Amino acid sequence: MNSSYSVSLISLVLVSCILVTSAQPTPPLVGGLSFDFHRTNCPSLETIIRDYLREIFSSDFGMAAGLLRIHFHDCFVQGCDGSLLLAGSASGPGEQEAPPNLTLRPRTFVIINELRNRIHRACGSIVSCSDIVALCARDAVFLSGGPDYRVPLGRRDGVNLATRDDTLANLPFFDSPISELIKFFADKGLNDPTDLVALSGGHTIGRSTCSSFVGRLYPPNQDPTIDPIFAESLRRICPSPTASGFSPLDIRTPNVFDNQYFVALQNGRGILNSDQRLFTDPTTRPIVNSFANNQTLFFERYVFSILKMGMLNVLTGTQGQIRTDCSRRNTVTTHLATGVDQQGETAAF
Ligand code: HEM
Repeated sequence: MNSSYSVSLISLVLVSCILVTSAQPTPPLVGGLSFDFHRTNCPSLETIIRDYLREIFSSDFGMAAGLLRIHFHDCFVQGCDGSLLLAGSASGPGEQEAPPNLTLRPRTFVIINELRNRIHRACGSIVSCSDIVALCARDAVFLSGGPDYRVPLGRRDGVNLATRDDTLANLPFFDSPISELIKFFADKGLNDPTDLVALSGGHTIGRSTCSSFVGRLYPPNQDPTIDPIFAESLRRICPSPTASGFSPLDIRTPNVFDNQYFVALQNGRGILNSDQRLFTDPTTRPIVNSFANNQTLFFERYVFSILKMGMLNVLTGTQGQIRTDCSRRNTVTTHLATGVDQQGETAAF
């Protein structure tokens, strides 16, 4: 083989590698969802959401993190069916009243319902609350500096609330070892450890209350892997084991969706045990290092994993309903007034 031929062969291989890695990989879509689901019946859907959230975030940036977390907590409990948005009733408390959800930000629920209002005014009651949540999570990331990506739509809203015990059992615990978290995610269908690491990258924005990390700062479970200067600054935020206060989850760039969260982990500056252990555990450490070194790779893997997460146990077709108020199941009256689905059929309830 002459040298100019081998040089061009190598360049061809390099170019195709670049093309392969720069193409946005997308997981296979679940039947019933499609990127174009609302293209003709609600063309203004995505603009309504992005414009409104841009306005909200300009004065209350914490809502971006709040909305991203809602999508995660909705999808892990019973699938992405909007059941987290349902208020409790005489028959039982709502998912929002279960402990891991007590630190969700109440205003995020108001924002989602306001968006539902605007969208249903523009297009009729054809877009589900669960689709709105998935789009809000995408825009929370994009408007914080993260990747933009297309969201498959066509989810329908569930009519059943999860019990308190089911909610607790289906959300991961911040003190769990990585082996347990990997299994926990795999049982949901997020079966590659990269899903756990990429999705934990959601902690590049937002905050945590002291109660979720104070155990690492004081005896008897003081964490030796935490950077001592950093631990001191966290003790100033949470001056006692029962203190109430907040720390950003990414202390380097708390309001920017970027890969600096992973760099903080390399420096022993993760806030939650479940964050820092991604670096101390040998299974996930190489993935943390690769994301810390390459933000583009993190963004690609994040998009892949959040799309997978957004399709967990979705209701489609004639399952569930399109809620006319995200916090309540449709009643016969609300349904007759407005509940007509995309195909012009009455929504099931
Ligand atoms: C290993 C799994 C995870 C655990 C154990 C976990 C745990 C937590 C905890 C304890 C908090 C702080 C709550 C408090 O205020 O005390 C939090 C906040 C947050 N989590 Fe996670 N999380 C996990 C995965 C995820 C995923 C997959 C996402 C989304 C892709 C996510 C997004 C967020 C966001 C954005 C916040 C900040 C919320 C705010 O500022 O209002 N988390 N998480």
